[in-house]
Amino acid sequence: MLKTLFAVAALLLFGPSPQQPAAKPADATIPAEAARMVNPVTPTPESQAHVKKVYGYDCAMCHGANGDGKGDLVADMKLKLKDLTDPAALKDMTDGELFYIIKNGKGQMPSEGDRAKPEDLWNMVILVRSFARKGPTAATP
Ligand code: HEC
Repeated sequence: MLKTLFAVAALLLFGPSPQQPAAKPADATIPAEAARMVNPVTPTPESQAHVKKVYGYDCAMCHGANGDGKGDLVADMKLKLKDLTDPAALKDMTDGELFYIIKNGKGQMPSEGDRAKPEDLWNMVILVRSFARKGPTAATP
């Protein structure tokens, strides 16, 4: 009798509860450790020119050539993007957070992952911030 009760209790406790997904979703909260990372690169005209080119290939179709969030894919994918030319857009995000998002993607944004070297990703963070400082003409050569 006691055994049966125990079995029932165990079933109720550990029974048909849904499995937790093993992988975190792409937009999981950024680890505090990652958010605290300090940008280790000093931008040079060459490194910025390089990431500007990469940005043109990998990012502009969503974020827009000058970061205004009006890229070609926005309508098709129904994206909601910040206007990065607005200094308020990224002011509450650390360099570490931007690095993490660019490296790992977020929501509908694909990850840049291993396509770019960490050094390039940090330069990308600087580029993305520069859209706001220089305004809408930043990406025009
Ligand atoms: C397919 C469209 C797409 C592409 C390509 C893309 N992004 Fe994004 N990006 C997004 C979306 C959507 C968000 C908002 C994600 C969220 O908050 O859910 C975002 C967010 C960001 C953010 C965080 C600030 C914000 O607006 O929330 C940065 C920085 C960023 N992207 C930079 C880049 C860079 C740099 C590249 C190229 C390496 C890139 N993105 C490529 C769609 C894209």
